[in-house]
Amino acid sequence: MTKENSPQQPRPSNEAKTWMSASSDETEAFGVQFGAALKRGAVVSLDAPLGAGKTVFARGIARALGIDEPVTSPTYTIANEYELPGGGRFYHIDAYRLSGAEDFEAIGGGEFFDDNAITVIEWGSRLGAALPPQKKIITVEISIQPDGRREIRVSNEQVAGGPCRASAIK
Ligand SMILES: Nc1ncnc2c1ncn2[C@@H]1O[C@H](COP(=O)(O)OP(=O)(O)O)[C@@H](O)[C@H]1O
Ligand SMILES: [Mg+2]
Repeated sequence: MTKENSPQQPRPSNEAKTWMSASSDETEAFGVQFGAALKRGAVVSLDAPLGAGKTVFARGIARALGIDEPVTSPTYTIANEYELPGGGRFYHIDAYRLSGAEDFEAIGGGEFFDDNAITVIEWGSRLGAALPPQKKIITVEISIQPDGRREIRVSNEQVAGGPCRASAIK
Protein backbone atom coordinates (compact mmCIF):
# COMPACT_ATOMS: atom_id res chain seq x y z
CA MET A 1 0.00 0.00 0.00
CA THR A 2 1.31 3.39 -0.94
CA LYS A 3 0.78 6.33 1.30
CA GLU A 4 0.24 9.23 -1.04
CA ASN A 5 1.15 12.06 1.28
CA SER A 6 4.79 12.70 0.57
CA PRO A 7 6.95 13.59 3.56
CA GLN A 8 8.09 16.76 1.73
CA GLN A 9 4.57 18.08 1.59
CA PRO A 10 2.93 17.43 4.92
CA ARG A 11 -0.74 18.26 4.99
CA PRO A 12 -2.41 20.12 7.82
CA SER A 13 -3.32 17.66 10.52
CA ASN A 14 -7.08 18.04 10.17
CA GLU A 15 -7.22 17.19 6.48
CA ALA A 16 -8.22 13.88 5.03
CA LYS A 17 -5.48 11.41 4.24
CA THR A 18 -5.52 8.96 1.37
CA TRP A 19 -4.05 5.56 0.68
CA MET A 20 -4.14 3.35 -2.40
CA SER A 21 -5.05 -0.31 -2.24
CA ALA A 22 -4.33 -2.63 -5.15
CA SER A 23 -6.21 -5.67 -3.83
CA SER A 24 -8.83 -6.92 -1.47
CA ASP A 25 -6.06 -8.23 0.81
CA GLU A 26 -4.47 -4.79 0.97
CA THR A 27 -7.78 -3.18 1.85
CA GLU A 28 -8.33 -5.73 4.60
CA ALA A 29 -4.79 -5.17 5.88
CA PHE A 30 -5.39 -1.43 6.01
CA GLY A 31 -8.62 -2.15 7.91
CA VAL A 32 -6.52 -4.12 10.43
CA GLN A 33 -4.13 -1.18 10.94
CA PHE A 34 -6.98 1.28 11.17
CA GLY A 35 -8.98 -0.93 13.54
CA ALA A 36 -6.04 -1.39 15.88
CA ALA A 37 -6.10 2.35 16.56
CA LEU A 38 -9.80 2.58 17.42
CA LYS A 39 -10.93 3.26 20.94
CA ARG A 40 -14.17 2.12 22.54
CA GLY A 41 -16.98 4.47 21.58
CA ALA A 42 -15.63 5.02 18.06
CA VAL A 43 -18.14 5.37 15.23
CA VAL A 44 -16.83 4.81 11.72
CA SER A 45 -18.84 5.66 8.62
CA LEU A 46 -17.79 3.79 5.48
CA ASP A 47 -18.99 5.66 2.43
CA ALA A 48 -18.34 4.15 -0.97
CA PRO A 49 -20.16 2.65 -3.95
CA LEU A 50 -21.35 -0.94 -4.04
CA GLY A 51 -18.47 -3.35 -4.37
CA ALA A 52 -15.81 -0.81 -3.40
CA GLY A 53 -14.61 -2.79 -0.39
CA LYS A 54 -16.53 -1.52 2.65
CA THR A 55 -17.21 -5.01 3.95
CA VAL A 56 -13.62 -6.08 3.25
CA PHE A 57 -12.37 -3.07 5.24
CA ALA A 58 -14.82 -3.76 8.08
CA ARG A 59 -13.54 -7.36 8.20
CA GLY A 60 -10.04 -6.01 8.74
CA ILE A 61 -11.28 -3.84 11.60
CA ALA A 62 -12.96 -6.87 13.18
CA ARG A 63 -9.74 -8.89 12.92
CA ALA A 64 -7.84 -6.10 14.64
CA LEU A 65 -10.37 -6.15 17.46
CA GLY A 66 -9.77 -9.86 18.03
CA ILE A 67 -12.98 -11.17 16.45
CA ASP A 68 -12.32 -14.60 14.98
CA GLU A 69 -15.76 -15.50 13.66
CA PRO A 70 -16.59 -14.93 10.01
CA VAL A 71 -17.52 -11.31 9.29
CA THR A 72 -20.11 -11.26 6.55
CA SER A 73 -22.02 -8.44 4.94
CA PRO A 74 -24.91 -7.11 7.02
CA THR A 75 -26.78 -6.06 3.86
CA TYR A 76 -29.80 -8.24 4.70
CA THR A 77 -29.56 -8.35 8.48
CA ILE A 78 -28.88 -4.54 8.66
CA ALA A 79 -26.83 -4.99 11.85
CA ASN A 80 -24.45 -7.76 12.93
CA GLU A 81 -23.18 -7.89 16.49
CA TYR A 82 -19.99 -9.45 17.79
CA GLU A 83 -18.63 -9.72 21.32
CA LEU A 84 -15.34 -7.91 21.78
CA PRO A 85 -12.68 -9.75 23.75
CA GLY A 86 -12.52 -7.91 27.08
CA GLY A 87 -16.15 -6.78 26.91
CA GLY A 88 -18.28 -4.55 24.79
CA ARG A 89 -19.56 -5.09 21.30
CA PHE A 90 -18.55 -4.60 17.72
CA TYR A 91 -21.52 -3.45 15.69
CA HIS A 92 -21.31 -3.81 11.92
CA ILE A 93 -24.21 -2.06 10.23
CA ASP A 94 -25.20 -1.67 6.61
CA ALA A 95 -27.50 1.31 6.07
CA TYR A 96 -27.97 0.65 2.35
CA ARG A 97 -31.49 -0.67 2.74
CA LEU A 98 -32.57 1.95 5.26
CA SER A 99 -34.31 5.00 3.88
CA GLY A 100 -32.69 7.33 6.38
CA ALA A 101 -32.62 8.52 9.97
CA GLU A 102 -36.22 7.61 10.79
CA ASP A 103 -35.81 4.05 9.59
CA PHE A 104 -32.67 3.71 11.67
CA GLU A 105 -34.34 5.08 14.77
CA ALA A 106 -37.27 2.69 14.20
CA ILE A 107 -34.90 -0.29 14.54
CA GLY A 108 -33.49 1.17 17.78
CA GLY A 109 -30.39 2.51 16.09
CA GLY A 110 -29.35 4.59 19.10
CA GLU A 111 -28.32 1.44 20.95
CA PHE A 112 -25.47 1.01 18.47
CA PHE A 113 -23.80 4.18 19.77
CA ASP A 114 -22.43 3.05 23.05
CA ASP A 115 -19.27 4.14 24.86
CA ASN A 116 -18.28 0.52 25.25
CA ALA A 117 -18.81 -0.42 21.62
CA ILE A 118 -17.05 0.06 18.34
CA THR A 119 -19.53 0.77 15.56
CA VAL A 120 -18.85 0.56 11.85
CA ILE A 121 -21.59 1.65 9.46
CA GLU A 122 -21.48 0.96 5.74
CA TRP A 123 -23.27 3.82 3.94
CA GLY A 124 -23.26 5.69 7.24
CA SER A 125 -23.83 9.06 5.61
CA ARG A 126 -27.33 7.89 4.66
CA LEU A 127 -28.28 8.08 8.33
CA GLY A 128 -27.91 11.85 8.47
CA ALA A 129 -29.26 13.25 11.71
CA ALA A 130 -29.37 9.84 13.39
CA LEU A 131 -25.57 9.79 13.51
CA PRO A 132 -23.62 11.19 16.47
CA PRO A 133 -22.18 14.70 15.97
CA GLN A 134 -19.91 14.95 12.94
CA LYS A 135 -16.79 15.57 14.96
CA LYS A 136 -17.20 12.20 16.69
CA ILE A 137 -17.36 10.25 13.47
CA ILE A 138 -14.43 8.94 11.53
CA THR A 139 -15.35 8.90 7.87
CA VAL A 140 -13.68 6.47 5.49
CA GLU A 141 -14.46 6.95 1.81
CA ILE A 142 -13.38 4.37 -0.72
CA SER A 143 -13.44 5.13 -4.42
CA ILE A 144 -12.77 2.80 -7.30
CA GLN A 145 -10.08 4.14 -9.61
CA PRO A 146 -10.16 3.63 -13.40
CA ASP A 147 -7.44 0.99 -13.02
CA GLY A 148 -9.46 -0.86 -10.37
CA ARG A 149 -7.40 0.19 -7.38
CA ARG A 150 -9.21 1.63 -4.40
CA GLU A 151 -8.44 5.03 -2.98
CA ILE A 152 -9.12 5.00 0.75
CA ARG A 153 -9.64 8.42 2.27
CA VAL A 154 -9.84 8.89 6.02
CA SER A 155 -11.10 12.09 7.54
CA ASN A 156 -11.80 13.17 11.06
CA GLU A 157 -10.87 16.24 13.04
CA GLN A 158 -9.51 14.02 15.76
CA VAL A 159 -7.20 12.05 13.50
CA ALA A 160 -4.23 14.29 13.97
CA GLY A 161 -1.18 12.13 13.46
CA GLY A 162 -2.59 9.66 10.93
CA PRO A 163 -5.23 7.00 11.37
CA CYS A 164 -2.80 4.21 12.04
CA ARG A 165 -1.28 5.71 15.18
CA ALA A 166 -2.80 4.26 18.28
CA SER A 167 -2.89 7.61 20.00
CA ALA A 168 -4.56 9.39 17.13
CA ILE A 169 -8.10 8.08 17.27
CA LYS A 170 -9.96 8.71 20.50
N1 LIG B 1 -8.46 -3.06 -3.78
C1 LIG B 1 -9.59 -3.69 -3.41
N2 LIG B 1 -10.10 -3.48 -2.19
C2 LIG B 1 -11.24 -4.08 -1.81
N3 LIG B 1 -11.97 -4.94 -2.57
C3 LIG B 1 -11.48 -5.20 -3.79
C4 LIG B 1 -10.29 -4.59 -4.27
N4 LIG B 1 -10.08 -5.03 -5.52
C5 LIG B 1 -11.08 -5.86 -5.80
N5 LIG B 1 -11.94 -5.99 -4.76
C6 LIG B 1 -13.16 -6.83 -4.74
O1 LIG B 1 -14.27 -5.95 -4.61
C7 LIG B 1 -15.26 -6.54 -3.80
C8 LIG B 1 -15.57 -5.65 -2.60
O2 LIG B 1 -16.66 -6.20 -1.93
P1 LIG B 1 -17.30 -5.63 -0.60
O3 LIG B 1 -16.26 -5.39 0.42
O4 LIG B 1 -18.42 -6.54 -0.26
O5 LIG B 1 -17.88 -4.21 -1.11
P2 LIG B 1 -18.93 -3.24 -0.44
O6 LIG B 1 -19.15 -3.68 0.98
O7 LIG B 1 -18.31 -1.87 -0.54
O8 LIG B 1 -20.18 -3.33 -1.28
C9 LIG B 1 -14.74 -7.90 -3.38
O9 LIG B 1 -15.26 -8.87 -4.28
C10 LIG B 1 -13.24 -7.76 -3.54
O10 LIG B 1 -12.59 -8.99 -3.79
MG1 LIG C 1 -20.80 -4.25 2.06
